[in-house]
Amino acid sequence: MQTITILRPDDWHLHFRDNDMLSETVPATARCFKRAIVMPNLVPPVTTTELALAYRSRILDARPVGSDFEPLVTLYLTNNTTSQDIREAKQAGIVACKLYPAGATTNSAAAVEGIEALYPVFETMAEEGVLLLIHGEVTDSHIDIFDREKCFIDQHLSKIVDAFPTLKVVFEHITTKDAADFVLASSVNVAATITPQHLLLNRNDLLVGGVKPHNYCLPVLKRNTHQQALRAVVAAGSEKFFLGTDSAPHEKHAKESACGCAGCYSAWSAIELYAEVFEQLGAMDKLEGFASIFGPQFYGLPVNQDTITLSKQSWDVPQEITLPNGNPIVPFYAGQTLNWKLDV
Ligand code: NCD
Ligand code: ZN
Repeated sequence: MQTITILRPDDWHLHFRDNDMLSETVPATARCFKRAIVMPNLVPPVTTTELALAYRSRILDARPVGSDFEPLVTLYLTNNTTSQDIREAKQAGIVACKLYPAGATTNSAAAVEGIEALYPVFETMAEEGVLLLIHGEVTDSHIDIFDREKCFIDQHLSKIVDAFPTLKVVFEHITTKDAADFVLASSVNVAATITPQHLLLNRNDLLVGGVKPHNYCLPVLKRNTHQQALRAVVAAGSEKFFLGTDSAPHEKHAKESACGCAGCYSAWSAIELYAEVFEQLGAMDKLEGFASIFGPQFYGLPVNQDTITLSKQSWDVPQEITLPNGNPIVPFYAGQTLNWKLDV
């Protein structure tokens, strides 16, 4: 196989950041994807429809000339979010809200403590058809970081999906066999996104031979058996799993630090990284469903009409990219060779 043409994909989970960063991050994603679900963990977080629409227009302004890229902005749930906030968001065309347990990840300090307190809001989301996107990790200090996703399923997620069978839930960036099994065993209203790093790597790639800060993201890479389970579900072509890069830029100095930030900036090679995975799995015929069909299907949005083509062509991911503020960032997979390239 020398080329592959698929319906244009969408990215169902990423971080664009804000202001001058947008002139880097938005073109990187718009080079390939038609739409993206944009995470609301800005400082301060995007907690209201007004903030979300203003953010959306800043993203639109950062699109390359002629681009038809469409950002799908989301609301950041807090303990102050009300059912009225949800109805207002729905009216304004916002399709999803993000639940971060407080302290789970980058810029989540303002997020939710005591998830049960939000049940009335989840009820309204189910009624309004607004999706609940979940960062599924507990944050209790006594729970081992490698067990936090499984604990979240047991302590919270299973209760949420039981209590709200009609609420559409996306378990974001899953990292474990436990999560894949949970999604497979759940109703059609529960799905998951999977990142390129969790398909390509396991925790050895983070820790063996020295700490690799550019492979550090949250939820953290897990052991090989979990990676294999994620690879198996995408190779099987299950429509409950779809593309969400979790592309999350942090400047080089913030990653290469005594207390390094979590997040991999993968936008410039996202579809190529996934193509690499599907080829390794002998499942190139399943790439289109994962990248371009199952996401819109789950969100109840139209599948894109146009296509992209990838060609078999070796290229090296750049070692560094210079951000608009002049600072360097190290992209995910920097300096490594990929075998597929998006035709432009
Ligand atoms: C994300 C970020 O940097 O905003 N980081 C990450 O490691 N994935 C936040 C998140 O999605 O958890
Ligand atoms: Zn994320």
